[in-house]
Amino acid sequence: ARRSYEYIDVSEPRPGVGQITLNRPKALNALCTPLIAELNTALRSFQASPTVAAIVLTGSERAFAAGADIKEMAPLTFSEAYTTSFIESWSDLTTALKKPLIAAVSGHALGGGCELALMADIIYCTPTANFGQPEIKLGTIPGAGGSQRLTRAVGKSKAMELILTGKSFSGEEAERWGVAARLFPSYDALLEGALKTAETIAGYSKVAVQAAKEVVNKSQDLPLRDGVEYERRVFHSLFGSQDQKIGMKAFAEKKKAEWSNQ
Ligand code: HXC
Repeated sequence: ARRSYEYIDVSEPRPGVGQITLNRPKALNALCTPLIAELNTALRSFQASPTVAAIVLTGSERAFAAGADIKEMAPLTFSEAYTTSFIESWSDLTTALKKPLIAAVSGHALGGGCELALMADIIYCTPTANFGQPEIKLGTIPGAGGSQRLTRAVGKSKAMELILTGKSFSGEEAERWGVAARLFPSYDALLEGALKTAETIAGYSKVAVQAAKEVVNKSQDLPLRDGVEYERRVFHSLFGSQDQKIGMKAFAEKKKAEWSNQ
């Protein structure tokens, strides 16, 4: 069912691909609470959709997202933030979504915007991308996982420098450091590249794709030995899927696999 949203646009631009475009241009896509609620609703609906297998999340050419909404946060008290679990709902994105999510980042991805991108499974960006955790300049710290995910992505020394100085880093640096998987020369090329990758992923077995995402994510939480064992268990379990038989039979017969998603 189509819903109408105030702060985002939602579409299915390619077979198997859902797209969410943050659309709050007046505030450079600052991530106010109702925007995050809409984002979670849209992601849940793509998660439940039988026609969507991979998702692209983007902003505008000028801004992916300029952070949490500073004007909304400014008057919050500790007890309000604590009792409402402020920002906790942002994590729905990482817990409720089993389908791959590609963040296509152009322009500002600051504070919560950078953290939102880091929650995605793959980041693509342009040279104009401006990533950073400037919270220190506002008298606060990253609150949506930035201190943890950025540190895992770039290592402690760089993360510490970025978070303590609030200095931003460019799309080129993001790509060089492995924060972003690929750099595209323009916003149009970025979006096209993200949609193409999403389409490629959507062309594989849904069972295998979900398992692949799950095991790569485990690497962020588990010690190596446990992670490798986890991977092997899931790998073994896929011999119980029809698609493993379909995929390997198609290879042997030099045919294109027709996935059953079973
Ligand atoms: C609320 C914001 C905003 C934000 C921009 N705007 N960022 N409103 N929250 N995070 C608004 C501005 O107030 C302005 O509104 C309009 O968007 C355009 O912004 P300008 O500053 O005029 O644009 P420009 O000069 O191009 O500068 C762009 C910018 C700057 C460098 C991105 O806007 C900026 O520094 N923004 C804040 C970035 C930041 O500190 N993010 C981290 C937030 S803390 P008006 O009404 O004046 O036109 C955070 C905490 C995370 O994210 C922890 C939990 C998730």
